[in-house]
Amino acid sequence: MKYLITGGAGYIGSTIASALEDAGHTPIILDSLITGRREFTHGRIFYHADIADRPVLEQIFKDHPDIQATVHCAALIVVPESTARPYEYYRENVGKSIELFHVLHELGYSRFVFSSSASVYDLVPGFMVREDSPLIRRMLDDALVQAGYKDRQGFSDGQEAWKYLEKLAREHSPETLRAVCAGVISDIEMPRMDGFTLTRSIRENPVLKDLPVVLFSSLISKDNEKKGIQVGATAQISKPVSYTHLTLPTIYSV
Ligand SMILES: NC(=O)c1ccc[n+]([C@@H]2O[C@H](COP(=O)([O-])OP(=O)(O)OC[C@H]3O[C@@H](n4cnc5c(N)ncnc54)[C@H](O)[C@@H]3O)[C@@H](O)[C@H]2O)c1
Repeated sequence: MKYLITGGAGYIGSTIASALEDAGHTPIILDSLITGRREFTHGRIFYHADIADRPVLEQIFKDHPDIQATVHCAALIVVPESTARPYEYYRENVGKSIELFHVLHELGYSRFVFSSSASVYDLVPGFMVREDSPLIRRMLDDALVQAGYKDRQGFSDGQEAWKYLEKLAREHSPETLRAVCAGVISDIEMPRMDGFTLTRSIRENPVLKDLPVVLFSSLISKDNEKKGIQVGATAQISKPVSYTHLTLPTIYSV
């Protein structure tokens, strides 16, 4: 069966297209490529247009009158940008969706699934960041905000960071801890408590022991990598780096 996927060149839309194909269905992609990737449309029926482009919508349903339903994934999705540019986001996401639903209804294709924003389910809790360089702390902050984390606790002193974690351990159970701290990102070389000692201390604490710990350092040599594994680091990243490319996938995956 055929399904129209708006935003089918994006992350969620292209994954849905693959799942539909795996189940023997035919996805039809409508995407403006404003942020989407053309390669996700390769080998698929693809209309390069805006969701509010009525003539294109009419053409799609003329070409494929057997479309069963529309999966609406087209959107702008960067949360901080949406608060900085609210009118643009409102027009693109709310205004154009209303246009799309109106046309679908008029054409007699009212069945749709709406991929709503994950942000309506609240932000995820914050990471603790131990980093003595203000510039790197700022970069990590930006990456964390983009990834949807809030309440970052930043520390430039290793011992202070550990004190804070011990306080969390006293106030929480392992189950409630993850609601306030999603994990720790730590430099290895830190004043008063290095990253390896911190990681080992976390692993030895019954409440903290399962927290993801990312070691983020210019010192990830082979030896250090071995040490990181021995003390139980979840991931290790070298810096300086193209931080959005290296930290975001890691942050998402832990
Ligand atoms: N990524 C997630 O983890 C997640 C989780 C839950 C819900 N969602 C929601 O799913 C939807 C898609 O998210 P995503 O992560 O795939 O985003 P994405 O940025 O990867 O994809 C969005 C796609 O929509 C296209 N697009 C944007 N505006 C358009 C317009 N006016 N006309 C045509 N195409 C347009 C973009 O080019 C892009 O290909 C969003 O509503 C998002 O809030 C995402």
